[in-house]
Amino acid sequence: MTNHSNASRSGTFFGESGVAGFTHRAFLKSMGFDDADMARPVIGICNTYSELNNCNVHLRDLAEAVKRGVWQAGGFPLEFPTISLGEIFLNPTSMLWRNLAAMDTEEMIRAQPLDGVILLVNCDKTTPAALMGAASADLPAIVVSGGPMLNGHYKGQILGACTDCRRLTAEFNAGTLDKATYREIEDGIVRSPGHCMVMGTASTMNSMLEALGIGLPGTGAIPAVDARRLRLAEHAGRRIVELAKDGVRPSQILTRQAFENAITLLCALGGSTNAVVHLPAIAGRLDIELPLDLFNEISGRTPLLANMRPSGKYQMEDLHYAGGIPAVLKQLLPLLHGDALTVTGKTLAENVANARIENPDVIRSFADPIQPEGGLTILRGNLAPDGAVIKHAAASPKLLHHRGRAVVFADMDDLQARINDPDLDVTADDVLVLKHVGPVGGPGMPEVGNFPIPGKLLRQGVRDMVRISDARMSGTAFGTIVLHVAPESAIGGPLALVESGDAIELDVPNRRIHLHVDDIELARRRARWQPPAQKTTRGYTKLFIDHVMQAPDGCDFDFLRGSDPVHPTEQPKF
Ligand code: FES
Repeated sequence: MTNHSNASRSGTFFGESGVAGFTHRAFLKSMGFDDADMARPVIGICNTYSELNNCNVHLRDLAEAVKRGVWQAGGFPLEFPTISLGEIFLNPTSMLWRNLAAMDTEEMIRAQPLDGVILLVNCDKTTPAALMGAASADLPAIVVSGGPMLNGHYKGQILGACTDCRRLTAEFNAGTLDKATYREIEDGIVRSPGHCMVMGTASTMNSMLEALGIGLPGTGAIPAVDARRLRLAEHAGRRIVELAKDGVRPSQILTRQAFENAITLLCALGGSTNAVVHLPAIAGRLDIELPLDLFNEISGRTPLLANMRPSGKYQMEDLHYAGGIPAVLKQLLPLLHGDALTVTGKTLAENVANARIENPDVIRSFADPIQPEGGLTILRGNLAPDGAVIKHAAASPKLLHHRGRAVVFADMDDLQARINDPDLDVTADDVLVLKHVGPVGGPGMPEVGNFPIPGKLLRQGVRDMVRISDARMSGTAFGTIVLHVAPESAIGGPLALVESGDAIELDVPNRRIHLHVDDIELARRRARWQPPAQKTTRGYTKLFIDHVMQAPDGCDFDFLRGSDPVHPTEQPKF
């Protein structure tokens, strides 16, 4: 009989004496494994596969590749499911369950006899949720994403989900695209499994894995169906066994320097505004503060290098052929902490030493950027004392400094009831304001910040207006859209006090958003203000409303910040 090592969590679990050890071994043997398997480091494969999540539907294939790598390196792989959050099929918004998924991941890592874990993720929320949970559990971990979809095609046009879903729907609604063509495009816009292939939230967060050092080089851009992704997964299986043996934990990888590297990459990619919520949430699990001003500071010194939709021209498949995230990181080295440790066992600089730009129109050099500063700006002012964010790289240049009359919608119901009303008092120069769509107000801070242009203006050819809300927006969206206004309106932030007819000034060059209403009048309105009725009194949504923090704190639950690392030799209680 093989002796079980007591030097690991799994060793103490399977090597225990008495009825507990007898039971642990007997039940594992029921699946066809024997003592020799149990003597190896146990690697959990935490899989967010789901048939209700098209972006993650191929993760079983990647899990098999990871298992091959784990066996090759002398480990023992065991796969288990966690909640899978898909953007398309979840209602009202996947963000409502990101923290639930993070809790699921953390607790299952903590509760099971694992020595290391591979986290298989892909769609928008699955990546930050896994990182949050893994950071709090702090067991050796590598994140493997599923990769982007192939480019969409329609009669020679390259299409991208879901930037073109919105653009083409706006054209259809404006009457410039016929119904038959609109329906035909459905057949070719989403051609494979994988996450949306523009630089949306999933592309952004999965690219961040390389800068954070918690994913292998290539993780960000290798297409979902490219065999290189299977090989990357197999490689990750081999590496996690080494990390588990060496006891290298996420807290040694996800340092302040790693987060600064991630923000630098975010700015150079023109990445999603959602990263400004997710990165502070992940960092908060390790007691690392990422104040919004740090994003401005890094954006101010980081050139926009990647020519990626929705702000630029190309998509993730093109980025991969152009050299991928390693080539972008190599250009950024002068601005990065190149000595940051990564899961390869090497530094970030060593990981990208041999990377090359293969297409300089997709990835610009440091000497020839698309623009000298990053694509995001944090705004402040009396309308957003705790900050707001705009992706100015995807905005209309002529609206970046704009003063207009507010047209206010009280909530989503009000918006839906009036936005296409032909009698709506609105012009193209007005500023559209939407309230009660923040973390508490949504609840869940839905991606509705890019709410539609009023129908009558759309028909006149208007395609962008200044829109302000406490919501988020999809990273695949575009427009002059001010998001994440904090504090949010549902808890009495200044956005709650805006009335139709007020003047609002957006001044991106000076990073300012100002409500031109004097303090006396604002005090009068505040005295009259009543918080909205809570939308639920029970269940998980009630827990969410009671404990969610504001956007600058990452919308994590107040009781989940920080970590509670599992002990390397302590077995879970049985
Ligand atoms: Fe999953 Fe777009 S729907 S990334």
